[in-house]
Amino acid sequence: MSNKLSAADKAKFICAKRAMDFVKPGMRLGLGTGSTAAWLVRLIGEEVRNNGLQIIAVATSDQTAKLAVECGITVRTMDEVKWLDLTIDGADEFDPRLNLIKGGGAALLQEKIVATASDQVVIIADESKDVQVLGKFPLPIEVVKFGWMTTKGLIEEAASNLDVMSYNLTVRMDGDVKLVTDEGHYILDLHLGRIGNPRELSLILNQIPGVVETGLFLDIADAVVIGHIDGRVEVRDINTGTIEFEQIDVVEQDNMFLDI
Ligand code: A5P
Repeated sequence: MSNKLSAADKAKFICAKRAMDFVKPGMRLGLGTGSTAAWLVRLIGEEVRNNGLQIIAVATSDQTAKLAVECGITVRTMDEVKWLDLTIDGADEFDPRLNLIKGGGAALLQEKIVATASDQVVIIADESKDVQVLGKFPLPIEVVKFGWMTTKGLIEEAASNLDVMSYNLTVRMDGDVKLVTDEGHYILDLHLGRIGNPRELSLILNQIPGVVETGLFLDIADAVVIGHIDGRVEVRDINTGTIEFEQIDVVEQDNMFLDI
């Protein structure tokens, strides 16, 4: 067990730390999924335990719910809370309009439901997720198990009609078996290399029977907090058009890093 963080982990940590400025007492808060969001959950847990922060939390995956509970955060269901003030989540890619690819952690369905039901959505990501055009990261598509091979064929047919260089569709595995999401579905990963028209692609994919949801998050994020490996944190707000920088030093407290 090491308390030394890699440069990439520090970048994830500092953007989560900066995102804590968005969290206010009494908020109904959506907790994202993934390694960056996990830092946020730990930081919120610290505030809950040490400073009595009161929030109402909804998790976007079983994995996040488990971590939140371990950190001392009470987790409520989406149906109990229904609407949220703020969701903070990671992303696999974001473009200059703050359109996103999400679902690398297979939690895209709950993530999209929670984000869509939030007044404000803040994305936390290290600089490697910043792209001019989405699509280098394979697009996760959640499909129902029934007839999934037929659904896969329909997605391939749709992809062949798109203006793309090439496409490849793979089923997400979890070791030797197909990965099953928290909602009991499979994930297909659509490798396009470049998504020229995310809106068109989203519309086409969502019309295919068997497709539950895609990892394209369009017009959902309000701001992105970007962690750079040199310690700078950048906040881009799509609504105000502002960009702010600040430097955050990582103080490696043992209790923050015990589970790394
Ligand atoms: C989970 O399904 C994803 O949407 C994550 O938010 C995304 O994969 C980012 O994860 P990392 O923070 O681990 O890169």
